Amino acid sequence: MVIDLTGEVVPCAYFHFSSGDQNLGNTNTRTIAEIWNGPSYRELRDRHVRSDFDGHPCGACVAPRLMNGRFPDFEWGAGFRHEEGHCHIAQIPEHFWQKHREHAEEIAVLEDGVPLTVPASVHDDIRKHGGGRYSIWHGSLYLSSIDGTSPVTNGRNYELRRGADAARIAQVHSNTRSGSNLALSYQEFCTGQVVLNSKPSKISFIETSDCNIDCPSCSQNEVRLVGVRHRPSTGTDVRNSIPFLQELIWHGGEPFLIPEFREFLKNYEITQNPNLSFGFMSNGTMITAAEAERLKKFDRFNVTISVDSFVRETYERMRAGAKYDRVMESLNRLLKMQNWPQRKVTVAMIIGKTNILDLAFNVNYAIENEIALMLNPIIHYPLTDRLNAFQDFKRDTVGWSEVFEETIDLVASASKRRERSLRFLDATGAVKELQRMYKAAEARHERCRRITVRVDDPHGSLRKMHSPGIAFQSRNQQAGSYAPIRDGVSSYDVLIPYDDAFESLDIQFYPNLYEGAGWTGVGRVESRDIQASANRVIDIAIPRYDAPVRPRNILYLKSNRSNALHVEDRRLIFDAYQELAFREQRAGFGMRRDSATEPSSSLRSKAAPDCDDVQDDAAQRELNARRGWFSFLVNYFRPYEVAGYGRDQ
Ligand SMILES: C[S@@+](CC[C@H](N)C(=O)[O-])C[C@H]1O[C@@H](n2cnc3c(N)ncnc32)[C@H](O)[C@@H]1O
Ligand code: SF4
Repeated sequence: MVIDLTGEVVPCAYFHFSSGDQNLGNTNTRTIAEIWNGPSYRELRDRHVRSDFDGHPCGACVAPRLMNGRFPDFEWGAGFRHEEGHCHIAQIPEHFWQKHREHAEEIAVLEDGVPLTVPASVHDDIRKHGGGRYSIWHGSLYLSSIDGTSPVTNGRNYELRRGADAARIAQVHSNTRSGSNLALSYQEFCTGQVVLNSKPSKISFIETSDCNIDCPSCSQNEVRLVGVRHRPSTGTDVRNSIPFLQELIWHGGEPFLIPEFREFLKNYEITQNPNLSFGFMSNGTMITAAEAERLKKFDRFNVTISVDSFVRETYERMRAGAKYDRVMESLNRLLKMQNWPQRKVTVAMIIGKTNILDLAFNVNYAIENEIALMLNPIIHYPLTDRLNAFQDFKRDTVGWSEVFEETIDLVASASKRRERSLRFLDATGAVKELQRMYKAAEARHERCRRITVRVDDPHGSLRKMHSPGIAFQSRNQQAGSYAPIRDGVSSYDVLIPYDDAFESLDIQFYPNLYEGAGWTGVGRVESRDIQASANRVIDIAIPRYDAPVRPRNILYLKSNRSNALHVEDRRLIFDAYQELAFREQRAGFGMRRDSATEPSSSLRSKAAPDCDDVQDDAAQRELNARRGWFSFLVNYFRPYEVAGYGRDQ
């Protein structure tokens, strides 16, 4: 169960790719238990039991494409997973494997302390005949139990030994509440139950957007600004679920700012739930040696630290307020604790225009330093960093093609050398996906028309704006061209691809390109008109403007608790932003009309031939609000997508 900051619940990380904006309930109106056996979850299970996905999001699920046609297996959180016949596979814990890989033939495997006697078996024999046959193969153990029971559930200990050194394969502790819950859940899964007596065994929970630093491109800027929070009972509900969970992934904002998170890390005793794998994603700035030490109590953890570049200057530009050296010190401390697959440490790196030229360096750094690297492209927000929005594609992407080639060569040769970094998390797919996105954008920009935007700034407003810009965006925000506007420069050329996929592009003016909802409609241009005319000029006049106050992120920590926004419908985010903008306008901030006779949409193109005025930018904003936020789940829950992060690409 995945619970977003908006309270929206989806069943897994894959769901939102195919669900549009469907969800299975909202924790701001229902408890976890009510949602778990509510109508949407029941329908989901019923569809799976009957294999009837017609018109259901699971019918378009991306997971089977990733997993050779299969839906994800039932997950026990054990070291073993079933392969075929009697054969089960477990990844050998990394510390042990590194020490003994050169003498793999000397590694003994014990079942409940008794050595298994048929090593180096042919894998087909293990599958067909079982009987304790096993094989050690490239760091994995292929094993059958002696009596044909599943090592996932038979409750036995499986141990690897060489000399005095030993490593245990993680098992399910059955005599616990989480163990019983897993067993019941498996039974209900196998018998196709639609209403479950078992509880959720995995929860991913985005608790807050509170943060101690100020990344300019943070995907949570907007929800933070309007004060989106959970109703307080949701946090309690999640915490009460912990004894039954096999996995908890606790997200922020910055999780180390959440008092309950720190308290959990400090005081939780693993005996309360030995099956628990604990995970979080952090900016790494607050993970002191003492905090890291507390992680050691977990047999299994899954920690992700965001480092957007291993080049100090780029990192500090993208992570305003964080110190590279300090974060790397924390990261290195954590890396020493990693022992895949039980204790996982991953670096998450968003890839945007700011850091794309560091890609080869970063991937190489990760390989050399045995870091599992998860690459996530910026494709929804902000325009300034998006990999699918340009002013002049050729000029804006100088060096990209070469950097992709170089990075692909790097991962290919690292893969041949079986580097540990790729063994943890193979970045090959993600790099190829980035290259594919680049090539798709290149193909789209093969046919472009120039539009010249002339800017008149009679009130000297531009110098008061954070990052003004003009954008040409399709209604679903997937296609984008834009130009940042600088004080003192009055003319901008934007090369717009004319694309059959989009009928029209809205022309929008942003006083701050980092405030995704804060644009004003200037007009609309039809794709066929772009294609028909070689030279188009758009004149815009900037109205009076005074910048509204935007506090540093840390100040939201307390400031909007009293008037928190509990979202029952994503449109409320849009409404809250509108309300904020109106309040600010009344107080004399934002863009202002000069007189009552000026049009209410205070910015209009003075002469935009063939451009219709946007009749209803409220409707457009609402559409964007509905579509916008959910796409960000991608970065929290999965490393990368097979083809296309956005459904329209
Ligand atoms: C919002 S952060 C919250 C967790 C934590 N504060 C951190 O930075 O890791 C979750 C993830 O989203 C990524 N992210 C932030 N802004 C993004 C954007 N505009 N597009 C894509 N991913 C973004 C972050 O880099 C991070 O990996
Ligand atoms: S660290 Fe950066 S990306 Fe993460 S929540 Fe804070 S501001 Fe956003």
